[in-house]
Amino acid sequence: MELLLLADPSEEKIRSYLPGSKCFTASLDAVVVGACVVQPCGEGAHELMSIAVPPDYQKSGYGTALLKWVITYYRNSGARQLEVGTGTFGYQLAFYQRQGFRVTRIDHDFFVKNYPEPIFEDGIQLFDMLRLTLRFSDTAG
Ligand SMILES: CC(C)(COP(=O)(O)OP(=O)(O)OC[C@H]1O[C@@H](n2cnc3c(N)ncnc32)[C@H](O)[C@@H]1OP(=O)(O)O)[C@@H](O)C(=O)NCCC(=O)NCCS
Repeated sequence: MELLLLADPSEEKIRSYLPGSKCFTASLDAVVVGACVVQPCGEGAHELMSIAVPPDYQKSGYGTALLKWVITYYRNSGARQLEVGTGTFGYQLAFYQRQGFRVTRIDHDFFVKNYPEPIFEDGIQLFDMLRLTLRFSDTAG
């Protein structure tokens, strides 16, 4: 939970989607260095609800390795697409787009409508959510 709260500040929200989701973890010896939660969201579609790496282990490639593993898992399982929602700025946008995710929609005011407290990143308030989609038919192998 501590790890998942890095990606989503609402424990209540996390607890609401965990039961219907798959949770993938990456570990290094006995240490969990990454967690990723994915929920089915329609025919052949799955939503990446959360991905997080502990602060001391960030920027070492574990997040990318876990994301790639999860993408390969869903591609090989015959899924049509993976979706993710994220803020409109920040390094996370490049993190997803590097793996082929494309912007498909903007949810205006998502973060103010769905969270009781304002959320800030790098001192900037998050208002809108960008919806990104990775369509497996658009990407090779
Ligand atoms: C997003 C996250 C899972 C990426 O995992 P990671 O192991 O740190 O990522 P990687 O080491 O594979 O690096 C991927 C890129 O993100 C960048 N990055 C990672 N953490 C960063 C940070 N805190 N600030 C700036 N850039 C960062 C890396 O520098 C790298 O970019 P580069 O290849 O241009 O150097 C991790 O940073 C994290 O847990 N963040 C907090 C939770 C979060 O925001 N989750 C996503 C919710 S949408």
